Amino acid sequence: MSLELNERIPNNVNLSEDPKLLRALEKWLPDYQSWWREMGPEGFQDTDVFLRTAISVDAKGWAHFDHVKMPDYRWGIFLTEPEAEKKIGFGDSYGQPAWQEVPGEFRGMLRRIIVTQGDTEPASVEQQRLLGQTAPSLYDLRNLFQVNVEEGRHLWAMVYLLHRYFGRDGREEAEALLERRSGNPDKPRILGAFNEPIRDWLAFFMFTMFTDRDGKFQLFALAESGFDPLARTTRFMLTEEAHHMFVGETGVARVIDRTVHLMRQDKNEDARAQGGIDLPTIQRYLNLWYSVSADLFGGEISSNAADYFASGLKGRYQEERYSDHLGLEGIYPMQVLENGRLVEQQVPLRNALNEVLRDAYIADCQRGVDRWNRILRAAKIPFEFTLPDRKFHRQVGIFAGQHFSLEGTPIAAAEWAARRDAWLPSPSDLAYVQTLMHPVRERGQVANWIAASRGVSGRPFDFDYVRLN
Ligand SMILES: [Fe+2]
Ligand SMILES: [Fe+2]
Repeated sequence: MSLELNERIPNNVNLSEDPKLLRALEKWLPDYQSWWREMGPEGFQDTDVFLRTAISVDAKGWAHFDHVKMPDYRWGIFLTEPEAEKKIGFGDSYGQPAWQEVPGEFRGMLRRIIVTQGDTEPASVEQQRLLGQTAPSLYDLRNLFQVNVEEGRHLWAMVYLLHRYFGRDGREEAEALLERRSGNPDKPRILGAFNEPIRDWLAFFMFTMFTDRDGKFQLFALAESGFDPLARTTRFMLTEEAHHMFVGETGVARVIDRTVHLMRQDKNEDARAQGGIDLPTIQRYLNLWYSVSADLFGGEISSNAADYFASGLKGRYQEERYSDHLGLEGIYPMQVLENGRLVEQQVPLRNALNEVLRDAYIADCQRGVDRWNRILRAAKIPFEFTLPDRKFHRQVGIFAGQHFSLEGTPIAAAEWAARRDAWLPSPSDLAYVQTLMHPVRERGQVANWIAASRGVSGRPFDFDYVRLN
């Protein structure tokens, strides 16, 4: 049994030499499988999909491509190779040896960090479970499933940490990760954006562009952790996360590409008249998914963020870029609202670390938007995509419950209500995009509203990425 499990759970953590841990994971495995059957991609459990599987952490082993059924995907547990004499890179314990076991005083905090990260992984699979039925091509269908199985593997990564390092309460948290459900009011997922349904493929591309990118920055911050197993686990997850953002950024780029083409065909440059998605609708989707994803970084002024940093559990994006790793003296100047007016406040650096991470995120999002705008410029179309101001449409932090324009000017509730549908997808936008969601399942074919793409790993676009019977 152990050997078999060891085969079914590829790993580089010597699972077979830890019978207690193996037993715990053996107990969790069938629950995971029934979760996947119930909440994973609906209607494709017996379908052969051309998937990339991680089978080891070195460059040539991890990217193994083959047709597999998703329930047979080899959900592995991989940590990047340990560094000799690793030190804690920031916070109050800066310079001391990295922890190989959970530091007792930070146990609760560390468990909360791992559970919060872990909860997003199955949540996104749940949000996307119906999208396979309307995929615009077999290539896109395969990319969706690749993202889904990797989010499943990320859940394994977090559950491994809970089982291996947290004993009984870790096992209970691992069970609870399979019990919460995205969007279910009685047992919702922990973070807001992971309870928003993803009803169409433009929303999926925006999610993988903006929400998975939050994941990238959270993982980068955890990859700095003084708790070494967490650092090594999240470092390896980042290699998979990069592909999810590729799917999002290139997905939206292909929609823009096609829209440009359809505008040219129409005497009024009306993409909708040609069955495409018009540029203002794409901008409204961007505004929505960017703003709900910005919320995921948490409050602007946060004592939790300060505690996570002080304790050496969660660092900054690329901590090595900084010269001061204590963060005790810095000040972060921040806009806050006072009696309806924006004023600048000096926030102690440690309390502003969510905002510091959000800054890095915003700069990264902007680079992607710039690439989208190049498509429009090359086509000489006078339209430019922009990121809304960070205060726009926020539900978390100091700007929640207030209203701001796209430019970040405070506005009254009545003005917000009047302009909401110009700034965020309106019910009619959502209904229109939904009319385009028809599956295209012939090899090499693609829906009218999106351009084709290069293929996966040297295969052509008309490769049989998904074998439908
Ligand atoms: Fe993930
Ligand atoms: Fe992801």
